[in-house]
Amino acid sequence: MPYSPVPAPDRRALLKLLAAGPALSVLGGIATAPAASAATAAPGILKPLPPEWFTVRGTNAEARFDAFAGTGPRTSNERFFVRNHTSTPVLDAADWRLTLWGDGLHGRAPVHFTYGQLRDLPSVTRTALIECAGNGRSLYATQQGEPATGTAWTLGAVGAARWRGVRLSDVLLRAGIAADAVDLLPRGLDDPYVSGGVDFGRVRRPLPVAKAFDDVLLAYEMNGEPLPYDHGHPVRLVVPNWVGIASVKWLGDIEVSTRPLTSPWTTDWYRLFGPAHPPGGSAPLTLQTVKSAYELPFGATLAAGRLHRLTGRAWSAHAPVRTVEVSVDGGAHWRPARLLDTPRRGGWVRWTVPWLPHRTGPATLLSRTTDAAGNTQPERAVHNVQGYLFNAVVRHPITVA
Ligand code: MTE
Repeated sequence: MPYSPVPAPDRRALLKLLAAGPALSVLGGIATAPAASAATAAPGILKPLPPEWFTVRGTNAEARFDAFAGTGPRTSNERFFVRNHTSTPVLDAADWRLTLWGDGLHGRAPVHFTYGQLRDLPSVTRTALIECAGNGRSLYATQQGEPATGTAWTLGAVGAARWRGVRLSDVLLRAGIAADAVDLLPRGLDDPYVSGGVDFGRVRRPLPVAKAFDDVLLAYEMNGEPLPYDHGHPVRLVVPNWVGIASVKWLGDIEVSTRPLTSPWTTDWYRLFGPAHPPGGSAPLTLQTVKSAYELPFGATLAAGRLHRLTGRAWSAHAPVRTVEVSVDGGAHWRPARLLDTPRRGGWVRWTVPWLPHRTGPATLLSRTTDAAGNTQPERAVHNVQGYLFNAVVRHPITVA
């Protein structure tokens, strides 16, 4: 296998060198890493995680939503959140190859693509958000009194980047996909995921052929740079508008099947369980939802008697954002925010609203997005045991002093 796990002590030694990204040779030359002294570490993540940009949660790094203030409509590679089931493998593009196999290929024999062969295919570039299905999970507990299991993300398990790569459909056609193929099973090259003493195997999640032919990319560049190690180097899937787990990183192989496929990532996780859902759970999650958030720390203090330009971001996986309304009095009155970006399905829309607070004391800021398909953030999200798809209006506590 073209897979080279790096043992823990070596990982630390390599960290500084690798922080500069895969554009640099690991073996030769001297790399100047960004000052990493103030950065926190997450087991298995290679890039620096400065606390002003990230909150470490287990093997994951959540971006601080307030730190998006003043940044553009895309998230830089340095600031992009990381969601790792295990740890980032260091793979060399030169000996990487993608294998397609299964009864859904005409010849039924495996077909391989090297990195160079992928780069020689026609490329496409598109901006897409990647958002973890569990983004906002902790708000089920803090806002609705309904705890959920899993990583306690607040709002920063999301980022938007400009991805360059090849269409998955082009690769499937070249590999000889059969007309009756229905499902794919893309699989990562990171270590098998072990939880509660059970080895669930490598991260893999079925993807319908129909979605693959719609808009899925095999991405090798992120914001104009080779894909960083933590984000799937050398090649990952980008599955626009779907839950982040669909965008398999460090892609190694894809099974092509004439029968529907399953994996624990569709049977045990990434579907909705609980009293509000069908017995046995909902269908596996596909589309993300509609959201908005202030670029402000929870519990921020704002000066009374001063004009503040509040800012935030809105996004929807279903349709372009149409409006963002805000309330600064806990939901009694609402007014429209000004949108700063042209709304596009699956991209950020930055918004702003002026506010001159007079009364001192605690206050609750709210924002509510409606998209062009008529989806609006509800007051309460429908709870599910694993805390996916939190879409409710966020009650953002602040103090006016
Ligand atoms: N792919 C592999 N191979 N291993 C992983 O742990 N995590 C998934 C997905 N792809 C994961 C993966 C999840 S849950 C999310 S939300 C996104 O990657 C996160 O992508 P990022 O780390 O580049 O932000």
